[in-house]
Amino acid sequence: MDHFETRDGVLHAEDIALPVLAEAVGTPLYVYSRATLTRHARVFRDALKVLPRFKLAFAVKSNPNLAVLKVLAAEGYGADVVSAGEMERALAAGMAAQDVVFSGVGKTHAELTRALEAGIGQFNLESEEEGLELAEIAVAMGKVATCALRVNPDVDAGTHGKISTGKAENKFGVPFDRAGAIYARLAQVPGLAMRGLTLHIGSQLSSLDPLEAAFTKIGTLLAAIRAEGHSVTHIDFGGGVGVPYKAGEVFPQPEAYAAMVARVSKDWDITAMFEPGRVITGNTGVLMTRVVRVKEGVGAPWVVVDAAMNDLARPALYDAWHDFAAVSPSGETMVANIVGPICESSDTFAMNRTIDTVARGDLAVFRTAGAYGATMANTYNSRPLVPEVMVDGDKWAIVAERIEPATILAAERVPEWLA
Ligand code: LLP
Repeated sequence: MDHFETRDGVLHAEDIALPVLAEAVGTPLYVYSRATLTRHARVFRDALKVLPRFKLAFAVKSNPNLAVLKVLAAEGYGADVVSAGEMERALAAGMAAQDVVFSGVGKTHAELTRALEAGIGQFNLESEEEGLELAEIAVAMGKVATCALRVNPDVDAGTHGKISTGKAENKFGVPFDRAGAIYARLAQVPGLAMRGLTLHIGSQLSSLDPLEAAFTKIGTLLAAIRAEGHSVTHIDFGGGVGVPYKAGEVFPQPEAYAAMVARVSKDWDITAMFEPGRVITGNTGVLMTRVVRVKEGVGAPWVVVDAAMNDLARPALYDAWHDFAAVSPSGETMVANIVGPICESSDTFAMNRTIDTVARGDLAVFRTAGAYGATMANTYNSRPLVPEVMVDGDKWAIVAERIEPATILAAERVPEWLA
């Protein structure tokens, strides 16, 4: 459920008619609904109350906007970060360092040092090598790093190959059959306090079955590690719960996910941790765009919009579907190809799709763009970096300004030897 609804023939974000924002800020433009964000944060959190102890670390990568993080901090969320940049955002949003989890295969020496200084709550180690490097830094600083070991359970998540992370051939975590030995080794190293295991098998999962298979494997590992006399108090179940992008698609509900986790982990006596991203932010945003022109095509017309793959990369990268809807629909439909202005054919949002009829100058939205939307934007073709707005009832504010090409140009230098 979201708060983007058509009222009096015009699509609104909560109480704001979208044309108001297009006029004031220009297009393309991401629009977030605070009520939708809060609602998703609460539904997910409330579902998990079937577990004895749990902590939530929002996957910042899905939507790192400071205002978004601020809303989630107020809902009791910490952060799952994958870079020093994301960590600084979480801290800037008021999240406690203790509530920050640091994931990622390539944390640098500088990032590990900075995270130790900040006092973050958990390092999700992706290798023995990383653990040993972190231990060295921690000892030199007179600190102890609290850690979980990321295990690669070798389970097929059944999602798009580019967002699958839990197969043996993926770069993430340590191999399942070596995990016990690596945990035991790291548990002996001064500077580290090993407290748990973590996994994340992929994103946009449409079934709970692969998650259940992976969690069950983690349960056997947990028992084996404890049997060796090591302490395991935390299991971080990662993220991955998918959301519907197409009308009519059915995805696992948070209640079903929570019930499955509760069933699998009922005898574990652990604090459960979660790193949800898309399930919290996906539905909270749309990308608003204006039709530049409709160009005659072979078979179907080309609807050329002013948003492009640099603003919303998902269709180009993963052949992802985002529903397209006119802001002021006439009730008529047409079959069209929707493309952006960028000079490559991957700048295609949809082919031969039945959409609301649109014409030059009309406003439209790509729905379900709150996760992995603006965060993956770039300035390819020297386009501006897309701005973001948050709506809250009848209030709205720019939460990320459009960065103009001139600002980027101003950061470039021509060396003297070229002048
Ligand atoms: N935890 C870890 C360690 C992750 O790598 C990810 C996502 C998450 C949590 C959050 O996963 P979620 O709950 O959002 O599925 N750009 C792609 C998605 C990449 C996901 C990367 N990792 C897309 O647009 O579909």
